[in-house]
Amino acid sequence: MAALILFGGGGDLAMRMLLPSLYFLEHDGLLPEGLKIIGAARSEETPDEYVAKVHAAVKARAETDRLWDEQSWSRMKARLDYLAVDATSADSLKGLKAKVGDDAVTSFLAVSPSLYARIVTAMKAAGLAERNARIVLEKPVGRDLKSFLEIDDAVAHAFREDQVFRIDHYLGKETVQNLIALRFGNTIFEPLWNNLTIDHVQITIGETVGVGDRWPYYDEYGALRDMLQNHMLQLLCLVAMEPPSDLDPDSVRNEKVKVLRSLRPITPDEAERVTVRGQYVAGVSEGKPVKGYDEERGEDSDTETFVAIRADIDNWRWAGVPFFMRTGKRLPEKRTEIVIQFKPVPHSIFDRDDRGEVQANRMVIELQPEEDISLTVMNKRPGLSQRMQLQPIKMSLSWGVDGKGDAPPRRRIAYERLLLDAMAGDSTLFVRRDEAEQAWRWVDEVAEAWAESGQKPHEYVAGTWGPDAADMLVARTGRDWNTADA
Ligand code: BG6
Repeated sequence: MAALILFGGGGDLAMRMLLPSLYFLEHDGLLPEGLKIIGAARSEETPDEYVAKVHAAVKARAETDRLWDEQSWSRMKARLDYLAVDATSADSLKGLKAKVGDDAVTSFLAVSPSLYARIVTAMKAAGLAERNARIVLEKPVGRDLKSFLEIDDAVAHAFREDQVFRIDHYLGKETVQNLIALRFGNTIFEPLWNNLTIDHVQITIGETVGVGDRWPYYDEYGALRDMLQNHMLQLLCLVAMEPPSDLDPDSVRNEKVKVLRSLRPITPDEAERVTVRGQYVAGVSEGKPVKGYDEERGEDSDTETFVAIRADIDNWRWAGVPFFMRTGKRLPEKRTEIVIQFKPVPHSIFDRDDRGEVQANRMVIELQPEEDISLTVMNKRPGLSQRMQLQPIKMSLSWGVDGKGDAPPRRRIAYERLLLDAMAGDSTLFVRRDEAEQAWRWVDEVAEAWAESGQKPHEYVAGTWGPDAADMLVARTGRDWNTADA
């Protein structure tokens, strides 16, 4: 038998993401037979009270997706249990151990990372870190390389590396996995996937939300540590890595870590040229007036809510190909995309003054709001015009046009996939220790350069695409950021 323990089981992540994910898996008949789901948190409540809270959270979410049904819920309810614990105390955790006995236990730490080290130590003492146990750690693990290593050393004292699952929920997104299929399941892209054909790569994660009441956490981390150190660098790795020999966790992660090691360090002198940090001031977001970050927080802060960086990967494949990354809160759209911008044709045989000028091919891997991979190619504009006219045509590479592929599935919560994989012991879509370590090493240099410069973040008005300096970062190289309708 198996058990899933959700530490922080009554918290925001559990209620908004993890428990709805488990409900959807239950609905689709994908949860392991006999699996128990145990919420564990400080709050002194009975299992019935906990189940009532889970019911409300899960039902609200499932109804939005039109997937609520009482049978699925009653199956899930039968698995649920709750125990009030102090997770940092081995004595307190013994009660939990008594509940799971010798079951294979997967424990998900959906609590503040500052508690991770103490919790894993207590888990080991309470017998919750046995050979068949697994632990899932939500990001961010640490706030810099030093704190990451401190936490991770405590984890390594309690668990072997193959028992540790460091989550980056971006890796659970369908299109991210589709990118692997596209690159390595076809022969036609890989020969082009290099500096001979690709001009540059852009990765954008735009969010319309502000920081809101998350600021106690956010103010300590900022966009660099909250988004770039993990989600954005993971996407960069999947675009840039060499073909792994198979899909084994280590084969894939060996390739990703090589990319991280090849990232050109950003020195304090370089930082001003290749990085931009911004913070939103009052503006209009989705048609409504919104406050600036400092006003929400109630005092002045130098934390960035926007970051744009030019990364260079110093290896044969990518020499000379800039990777531009940007992410921010209070941007005009919730949009996540990777743009592969190919080089223009070396010589155009078509009239330059014509409306049909040759545009360079562009592949857009869109994760949000839609999930799709599209390729823009040039095509002849139909008709009898004497002069050949061209037009760009956007082709979807994900769902096809012949209607023979599977229909686009329901948009799943990324955690559905990751919870299943962690329980099955497959760590391909999780972050290995050396990956996180390299990512922190690179990000630390940026953070240190910013601290040394003493400069405040550039202001940008809420509802815009960040400070002008972010446009300049790209424009300086003769390029520009992709816009949704380009
Ligand atoms: C989280 C960050 O990891 O990702 C949040 O902590 C951010 O600040 C969120 O809002 C974005 O995730 P998604 O899947 O909505 O793009």
